[in-house]
Amino acid sequence: MRVLFAASEAYPLAKTGGLADVVGSLAAALGELDVETRIIMPGYPSALKHMQRARVKADFGDLFGFGPTTLLAGTMPNSPVGVYLVRNAELFERTGSPYADATGADWPDNARRFTLLCRVAAALATEHSPLNWHPDLVHAHDWQTALVPALLATRRGGRPPTVFSIHNVAFQGIFPASVFPELGLPQSAFSIDGVEFYGNVSLLKAGLAYADRLTTVSPTYAREIQEPRFGMGLDGVFAARSADLTGIVNGIDERLWDPTRDPHIPAHYSVEHLEGKRACKAALQQELGLREEATVPLIAMIGRMTEQKGQDLVLGIAPWLLARGVQLAVLGSGDRALESAFVTLAKDHRGSVATRIGYDEPLAHRLEAGADLFLMPSRFEPCGLNQMYSQRYGTPPIVHAVGGLADTVTDAGAQAIASGQASGFAFTEPTQEALLAAIMRTLTLLRNAQTWQRIQAAGMRRDFGWHRSAARYRRLYAELGGYRS
Ligand code: ADP
Ligand code: GLC
Repeated sequence: MRVLFAASEAYPLAKTGGLADVVGSLAAALGELDVETRIIMPGYPSALKHMQRARVKADFGDLFGFGPTTLLAGTMPNSPVGVYLVRNAELFERTGSPYADATGADWPDNARRFTLLCRVAAALATEHSPLNWHPDLVHAHDWQTALVPALLATRRGGRPPTVFSIHNVAFQGIFPASVFPELGLPQSAFSIDGVEFYGNVSLLKAGLAYADRLTTVSPTYAREIQEPRFGMGLDGVFAARSADLTGIVNGIDERLWDPTRDPHIPAHYSVEHLEGKRACKAALQQELGLREEATVPLIAMIGRMTEQKGQDLVLGIAPWLLARGVQLAVLGSGDRALESAFVTLAKDHRGSVATRIGYDEPLAHRLEAGADLFLMPSRFEPCGLNQMYSQRYGTPPIVHAVGGLADTVTDAGAQAIASGQASGFAFTEPTQEALLAAIMRTLTLLRNAQTWQRIQAAGMRRDFGWHRSAARYRRLYAELGGYRS
């Protein structure tokens, strides 16, 4: 079986968050199950630089009306997964992130940029494809590629079946109605059952309305988004398609995130030999300018700084944490007010708080390894990857029990501790009080070395690999059958 993944990022060619990790590692995992998966994504400068064995496969000229466009083919640098890059210098070869300029402002032409990606991806799935590799199914990820199922479903002629995965309902790709003519859809698609959303265009809705099947990245999130509290205005749409919606929990790349051989960490360790973890903590404290004390609890947090991730809750309880001598290490970027609040906190509490603003993959590994605890107080979390990385690194996570966090962390209640299942700490309300209570509970257990090691071991032994979830995707693809005429 041949599957074309359409996505706006894929690790290691381009990454701003978990989407990239999932696209890159799921494609590789499917390959191991004999589902040959190739990725189509924009030819950003980083992708052009790192793709292996790049060659020009097609020259579309100005076929789509968005300027000269070519298609490059190559492979991932870290796996045999095939990649197609849509090359359009004007739209994709810019410095900045895939979505925004250096100041964090969205590129004003994002609708055009991702429409081009979708139109090329859709073309590769039709009889007009310039390739001799023909996908049996197209799997699009998030709003940036949600137009692909819509373009295929509304065209005359045959098409492969389509799957659309929602990684985060908070990002919907909403643009003024004036972008509609460029999308390449029939006029009838500008309706409430199509891409229209309160008078605007919602690209996410293009996927929700036209894909044959929908998936999201955890079973709990699949339920949550059908409710007003988490549906972000689309709960009705999700509920209407609930028979076609499946939650499949993300896996992690167990080769990249492995404390026994991670090249980014100063000492290696395993569940049987945890000594290396102490060395990682000491090195991290030194690197970040934290007091070099072995027994002080060190809490780490990594991620986009945004309302979703709940960093504001942590700022609110910081005085309490500091009063108890806890150390805090924060890596992330995003919301400018959150960034500067954490920078100020670190300045005011040198030796106890360290803040690193920016994106630093190796440091993320050192934080996972060197911290005692990992904090994810997300208000909502479709899946989340860091809580899985942290369990694997013997760094129990403290999480708000929503979405994938609820599905991947077993709270250290008395029974779960006794049965050896407990792997972290969960709280149920996204409030400072509940977060504080969870941290308090955690710090008490941290003092009990034997119990603590059981919790660490449960997380480290857990299977977070892709094989089970990749097999579920394969089954879903198989259910969809072949080409539709
Ligand atoms: P999301 O996709 O919502 O941002 P996930 O937990 O699914 O959240 O994935 C986030 C991924 O991005 C993880 O691999 C995490 O380590 C990484 N990440 C996020 N911010 C940073 C950062 N500032 N530096 C390094 N890695 C980061
Ligand atoms: C999104 C979600 C995150 C998820 C990731 C990969 O960015 O916010 O929870 O893990 O996608 O699916």
